[in-house]
Amino acid sequence: MTSNFVTRFQALDQLLNETRQYWQLLAFDHLCTPWPELDAYLTGLSDLNLSALDMDQSALQHALANYIPQLNEISALIAVDTVGSRRPTLPFWLSNGIKGRKVNQLQDFVGALNEQHLPVLEWCAGKGHLGRILAFTGVPHVDSVELQAHLCTQGAHSAQQQGLAMTFHCADVLQDPVAHYFKPQQHAVALHACGQLHQNFMTEAAKAGCEKISLSPCCYHLFTPAQYAPMSEVAKRSQITLTHNDMKLALQETVTAPSRVAKVRKKEVLWRLAFDAIRRDVTGSDKYISVPSVNKAIFSGEFKAFCAWAAEQKGVRLPAYIDYAAYLEAARQRQQITERIELVRHAFRRAIEMWLVLDRALYLQEFGYEVALTQFCEKSLTPRNLLIQAAKQKHSVGEENVSTGEESSSASAE
Ligand SMILES: C[S@@+](CC[C@H](N)C(=O)[O-])C[C@H]1O[C@@H](n2cnc3c(N)ncnc32)[C@H](O)[C@@H]1O
Repeated sequence: MTSNFVTRFQALDQLLNETRQYWQLLAFDHLCTPWPELDAYLTGLSDLNLSALDMDQSALQHALANYIPQLNEISALIAVDTVGSRRPTLPFWLSNGIKGRKVNQLQDFVGALNEQHLPVLEWCAGKGHLGRILAFTGVPHVDSVELQAHLCTQGAHSAQQQGLAMTFHCADVLQDPVAHYFKPQQHAVALHACGQLHQNFMTEAAKAGCEKISLSPCCYHLFTPAQYAPMSEVAKRSQITLTHNDMKLALQETVTAPSRVAKVRKKEVLWRLAFDAIRRDVTGSDKYISVPSVNKAIFSGEFKAFCAWAAEQKGVRLPAYIDYAAYLEAARQRQQITERIELVRHAFRRAIEMWLVLDRALYLQEFGYEVALTQFCEKSLTPRNLLIQAAKQKHSVGEENVSTGEESSSASAE
């Protein structure tokens, strides 16, 4: 796909705007599916078919396109090339202590950045595994910024032992002054820094005029306002207002989740629905009210204990006798509905992620960067595999330094 980002964003924006009734809703709010045109199809789906479709985006979009014709357009709008870079080989002492898929993910990310000349700023570095690999593969110096002091200490210790040129800086990037970390002669890098953490990173890096900016965003809803604040001028003109629930939809892909996690999640949904029915009956309310997230250990216990906890959270007094088994059985029926509503929403998850990522790409273009958008690794390594790479455009003497979004976006191809 080689059309420019503005055109692609606007087409995607229009598609998402026209199909809002299929993705911008809370499944738990509904006791039956809210789309009569889809009812027969959804109720006819076996649980097995549902799981298979949920694991296969294009099959799902294809199946639902009979009812939602806009889905015929979606695959072209969310398509991205995978970077054709070579995975660097690492000695065992460097990859030691980095878990399974993460090593390959980091190797692919480093291969895609292909940085050997500029010093790197590593944002929200954790233990700085990425920074250490970058330093090993030729980056002259890495400055790693991280909130958690013990991760900084461990990272600095490993880097020193391995003779790698790295400096750790312990900072809360949402509270502390951070502008001084960004330099024009620098490659600013953020791998999976959540929500506002990567948004602040982008604004600071663009302001400082870093020569290169590379990031793979994730968890768009974290540390951000309840209603999404678009970054680019183009996205600011959109009629779509994303909520945290919509932003979380962009992350609902379970390609790397072990089946145990999926099973616990299913049980959690069942218990939340059953508790919701109890609460409705006890309080006479007919609205779904969410119960806060909780340590998953509670779902290995008794349903009754979960209800006692949830009731306390919501200030509900439960009667002494409740037929918990009956509520669980009724919730099983309702879960069928919830899962089918979620399935339809899932047809749009990559489109919402792409909308968010294009907003970021456009923002950097508006700051005079040439921007490329690719996938840096296979989805099986991480579903958050989109990579934005921005390089400061070279200007001749006397030329304005900052161009408008329209100018830069038409000049730059994906
Ligand atoms: C998902 S991890 C990513 C780590 C690493 N970049 C990677 O991809 O392996 C996010 C990191 O951001 C750090 N973090 C969270 N909030 C932060 C803040 N306010 N300031 C700095 N770092 C923060 C966390 O401690 C964590 O190490």
